[in-house]
Amino acid sequence: MKKIIIAIDGYSSCGKSSFAKAIAAKLGYIFIDTGAMYRGVTLWAIRHGMVTGSHIDEARLVEALPSIDISFAYNESRKAGDLILCGENVEDRIRSIEVSDAVSRVSAIAAVRARLVAMQQAMGRGKGIVMDGRDIGTTVFPDAELKIFMTASVDVRAKRRYKELVAKGEKVTLDDVRRNVAERDRIDETRAESPLRRAADALLLDNSDMTIDEQMDWIDSILRRLLE
Ligand code: DC
Repeated sequence: MKKIIIAIDGYSSCGKSSFAKAIAAKLGYIFIDTGAMYRGVTLWAIRHGMVTGSHIDEARLVEALPSIDISFAYNESRKAGDLILCGENVEDRIRSIEVSDAVSRVSAIAAVRARLVAMQQAMGRGKGIVMDGRDIGTTVFPDAELKIFMTASVDVRAKRRYKELVAKGEKVTLDDVRRNVAERDRIDETRAESPLRRAADALLLDNSDMTIDEQMDWIDSILRRLLE
């Protein structure tokens, strides 16, 4: 069967990663969560004192970029890659609210994007990959054979994210999470560099009222047509 690139973009907490992971498992493809890479750079910046409130020390971060080593290590129990930052497994740490609060600003920096986009393009060279993010269908793989743009209402997304954070023991309120989700949408959509937008040829999937099984049914017929 021919191998393709599947680009999945959309708003935060839409379930992009779960969906991308399920498609990758079904096809035996590699799954890459590019948000984790932006989160890794953000965690590095926080740890090195480059994030103060909403201010990022952009000049210092850009200068340090070549020394920020990012990779993935396959985690059998998650059936996905854990993010490795300079040799340390930081998969849990990059999901904290502290990182979530700063990541949109870090990912708006052109030099950060250029470095991570180049890494992502290298990962897709052999095809057979499902990559999720914000600019995969528009910038990373504009020629991807299948592009999906995911969305869901802010309320639905905030509730999903809140549940995840509480399950991890984070002390947050639903209001905090809703604000964070809405603020990230605003920054992602309005940044100058690769703003979040639907590629003209991306299929739209609003999963506000859909289970993962229903989403898999939706994609099944599309994949059958594309791969046969
Ligand atoms: O998917 P996520 O919520 O883990 O992504 C974290 C942040 O990274 C999000 O605010 C937008 C940014 N991001 C991006 O700018 N481009 C990508 N390809 C992936 C994520």
